[in-house]
Amino acid sequence: MKTWDMAWLQGETGDKKWNADIVGFEADCKIAARAVKELGTNPAGTKVTLARVDCEELGAEGFHIYSKDGGIIIEAREAAGALYGAFCLERLAACGESTDALNITSVPDEPLRMVDHWDNMDGSIERGYSGRSFFFIDNELVVGERTEDYARLCASVGINAVCINNVNVHQEAERLITTHLPEVRKLADLFAEYNIRLYLSLNFAAPMSLGGPQSADPLDPAVTCWWKQTMTHIHEAVPGLGGFLVKADSEGRPGPFTYGRTQADGANMLADIVRDFGWTIIWRCFVYNCQQNWRDYKTDRARAQYDSFVGQDGEYHDNVILQIKNGPIDFQVREPVSPLFGAMPHTRQMLEVQTAQEYTGQQIDLCYLIPEFKEILEHHTYCYDTDDTVADIIAGRANDLAGGIVTVTNTGDDSNWTGDSLAAANWYGFGRLAWDHALTSAQIATEWVLQTLSTESDVVDTVTDMLLRSRDIYESYVAPLGVGFMNEPADHYGPNVDGFEYSRWGTYHRADHLGVGPDRTHAGTGYTAQYKEPLCSMYDSIETCPENLLLFFHHVPYDYRMKDGETLLQHIYDTHFAGVEGVRSLIAQWESLKGRVDETVYANVLERLERQFKNASEWRDQINTYFYRKSGIEDRHGRKIY
Ligand code: GCU
Repeated sequence: MKTWDMAWLQGETGDKKWNADIVGFEADCKIAARAVKELGTNPAGTKVTLARVDCEELGAEGFHIYSKDGGIIIEAREAAGALYGAFCLERLAACGESTDALNITSVPDEPLRMVDHWDNMDGSIERGYSGRSFFFIDNELVVGERTEDYARLCASVGINAVCINNVNVHQEAERLITTHLPEVRKLADLFAEYNIRLYLSLNFAAPMSLGGPQSADPLDPAVTCWWKQTMTHIHEAVPGLGGFLVKADSEGRPGPFTYGRTQADGANMLADIVRDFGWTIIWRCFVYNCQQNWRDYKTDRARAQYDSFVGQDGEYHDNVILQIKNGPIDFQVREPVSPLFGAMPHTRQMLEVQTAQEYTGQQIDLCYLIPEFKEILEHHTYCYDTDDTVADIIAGRANDLAGGIVTVTNTGDDSNWTGDSLAAANWYGFGRLAWDHALTSAQIATEWVLQTLSTESDVVDTVTDMLLRSRDIYESYVAPLGVGFMNEPADHYGPNVDGFEYSRWGTYHRADHLGVGPDRTHAGTGYTAQYKEPLCSMYDSIETCPENLLLFFHHVPYDYRMKDGETLLQHIYDTHFAGVEGVRSLIAQWESLKGRVDETVYANVLERLERQFKNASEWRDQINTYFYRKSGIEDRHGRKIY
């Protein structure tokens, strides 16, 4: 018996519903065979024909499903489309949709829909909150039944690329490109049957640690020669790889800056070597000085990525994609969208979000992230004459240079995959949104609940409502109005208002007895100037800056009047009291479902919500007390502040 759940993948037990057959795909096409296997070949089931058609509009991954003569046809140009069509059909059936009069054409919005694992080979997971790695056990890469189920989960939501190891490549993981290649091959082959390309994170200084030249200078012929030989060897062993992900010159990782070279020099060196193999180099833009001096008010970590990359627009070769975190700092619950999106019109860019809830509750506190991901995708950058959004830029609609979208994943070897059972909605939702940006957060939540927890409408409504309210509730009790980083420095969970304030990380709130927030306007660090108009002026002025980002951009006095007439300080007090009440209401909603959802899931979620309540109460008390002691200003409602 499996020790893990496949909740939202239907057809795990019992008879498969369908009687599937393929027409036009090669009989030995493994992806098509997987599609047939997913649907089943039950002679009593509804006939489903997976048919190959030469329809350009469908691209390599799209499909057209329609009903005909009591049966169902899934047309696709490539087998991948047939596989995605099969999963779509299963989803519709599991959501209780009628399959009698189908006529759906679906083509993915993003070409590259990727998941990054921060799994280490010793089995630990950096920022993992759901057990240990299911890829790596005791320094071995394990390819087994769970890996296969994982590939199915990915394919079921349209994920087509997976990077399996941490961007911080430590020790044994360096040998994924040498001694571990046979297992890498096995995994790449399995993934390929689900239309997933396997990526590996590379250590930029691998030549030095794997017995090559004692340099990683990208312009040193001895170094390039070593990479050529190494890559050729990798290609012989695993031709079907997708490519590599590189974190360079970031948080102590080696990179081209050490040798006075640019990020483009580093990325292009690798890209040129692997171009003929059809591989891609995904280069992270998370480059900043993590040795900052808190006394220095001019250096601004928020500026770093733009400043390091924008001047090299057009220099990156065509098989390099720049992977940019959604915000300029680091996956906080509220940040402005990074100004780098769209600012490099001749460069392929992809969006990196984080489904692992590092700063958003660590899969203890409920925080449904799909509304955030949608806000980012729909953000207008004003970098082109067209009405470009981040979604347009990463999909290549703005400049014909497609990138894609990736999430740092929240999975581990826990039986429910994601620690908190409700956190699986984030994993599922990322995939669905990456495929179809037009889906709403509510649609995605409802789909997930229907397939996972219950088809009874009051249960569906209650859980969907909990998910949709959860991010606002979470945001209301943590660091206020975009100021970020008032959390515990060691594990990033729970409050510690000054925890980062006198550290080297460049994440300062600058609170004193009069006000709070770093000044990122023209009068401060000048960060606002990285945005195109009208965004630059909008953020620069305290009057027009969106209130939920007020303390990201401005140093604001406590008696500043918010739009509703309350002072900033009263707003902070009010939202922090309200946040705890919000969690209380989530608990009540969940308790109303006792006996209505699976008992294990019920207990799992309740236990987490109770921990969330404690966490939220701690945040409320520490934040409110901190600002009360700094300002000496009482709460207008006389509530308990310590
Ligand atoms: C955050 C996170 C690190 C991670 C880094 C990254 O800083 O805390 O664990 O390595 O992001 O994205 O590379």
